Amino acid sequence: MSQSVAPSAAAGTGTVRSHRLAVIGGDGIGPEVTQAALTVLDAAQGRFGFTTERTEVPLGADTYLATGDLLTPDAVEQLRAHDAILFGAIGSPRVTPGILERGIILALRAELHQAINLRPVRLYPGVPTPVAGLTPDRCDLVVVRENSEGSYVGGGSTVHRGTRAAVATQGSTNTWYAVHRAVDFAFRLAEQRRGRVTLCHKTNVLTEAGALWLAVVDEVADRFPSVEHDYVHVDAMCMHLPVSPERFDVVVTDNLFGDIITDLGAVLQGGLGVAASGNLNIEGSAPSMFEPVHGSAPDIQGRGWANPAGAALSLALCLASLGEGAAAAAVESVTAGVLAELPALSGEAMGASTTELGERIAAGVAQDTGDVESSLMTQLAAVQAGLAD
Ligand code: IPM
Ligand code: MN
Repeated sequence: MSQSVAPSAAAGTGTVRSHRLAVIGGDGIGPEVTQAALTVLDAAQGRFGFTTERTEVPLGADTYLATGDLLTPDAVEQLRAHDAILFGAIGSPRVTPGILERGIILALRAELHQAINLRPVRLYPGVPTPVAGLTPDRCDLVVVRENSEGSYVGGGSTVHRGTRAAVATQGSTNTWYAVHRAVDFAFRLAEQRRGRVTLCHKTNVLTEAGALWLAVVDEVADRFPSVEHDYVHVDAMCMHLPVSPERFDVVVTDNLFGDIITDLGAVLQGGLGVAASGNLNIEGSAPSMFEPVHGSAPDIQGRGWANPAGAALSLALCLASLGEGAAAAAVESVTAGVLAELPALSGEAMGASTTELGERIAAGVAQDTGDVESSLMTQLAAVQAGLAD
C-alpha cells in the first residue's frame, strides 16, 4: 500500500531512502514547470541523500483527444502504486471546459481520497506584492480547503437546455464526515502554528450548509482548548485578506470558497505563479498530489515564461509529506530567495526562462543556501505524525 502520510519507512535504517513519484505534467505550461521542479528535485536528492523512482503518467488534453480517455481505472491503479504525485496542470482550449477538469483533476482528488487541499499564503521577504504596504510579517496563513464536496460534487441538471425555457440546477453536498475531516485538520494545523482557526463561509445565505459547518467547528473546537476560532463571511474575506491578512492563521473553508479565496491569496504572495498546493490524502490510503495553483495558462505555453516557483514550492510540500523535511525546507527557502531576486514574477519580464529558474533554484538547493525559515514544513510533518497515531 502506498504511504504518503507516514515519514519514510526507510529513514534511519541505514538504507537509502527512496520514494516512488508519479509525475503528471498535463497540459499547457504544466509539463514546463514540472520539468523545472524535477530539476530541483534532482538537486535535493543529491544534497539530502535520498532517491526517487519516477513514473510519467500521460493525462490531459492530448491523451483525451487521441483516445477519448480521461482518468481510466488503469491509470488510477498505476498512480496508487506511488508514494506521491507531482502534478502540473490540466485544461485546454481544445476541449470543452469542464471535461478535463471534472474528468481528471476532480476525479483524481475523489478517487485518491485527497480530502484536504492545503494552500499556504505566504509573502516571502523581498518578493514584490501588488498589495501596497503589505509586509511578510503580516502575511503567513494557510487555507485548508475541503477538497471533496460542496458544489464540486457534480450532479445537477438542465431541462430545456439551449432554449429560453432552460432551467439549470446545481446543488452543494455537505456531509458531516467531510466537513469534520477538514475542520479537524485545520485545528491540528493551527495547534502547531499561531493557534487560530477562521471558518470562512456564507452562513447568512447558505443556511443549511453553513449551519453544519458552524456546528462542526464548535464540536471540534472543544477538543482543542489552546486554539481560538472565529468566523468570516466569504465576501468579507475578500476584503480582509488583502487589507489585514495578519488576522488569519489557518482558514478552513468549503471547496468553492477555498478555490476562489486562494486565487486572491496567490495575489498577496506576488501572483498566481508563486502559489503552491497539496491535495492531501490524510488517511494514508493513497498518494497525495502536489500542484501549483496557476493552471495550464495555454496562452504562454512553449514560451518559457512560466514561473516555476509554484511548482517548486509544491515540490517542497511533497517532500515534507514524504518525511524529507530538511529537503523540503531547503527547497522552500531557496525558491523564496530566487523569487526575491527577480525583477518581475511572471512572463518575459522575469528576465529568466522557466528552465533557467529551475536550474537556479536547483543550484541553491545543491548548496542549501536558503535562509527563510520553513516552518510550515515542520508543522505539516507534526500534523501528519499526529494523524498517523
Ligand atoms: C484549482 C483549479 C481547479 C479547481 C479546477 C481546474 C477544476 O481551479 O485547483 O484551484 O477548481 O479546484
Ligand atoms: Mn482554482
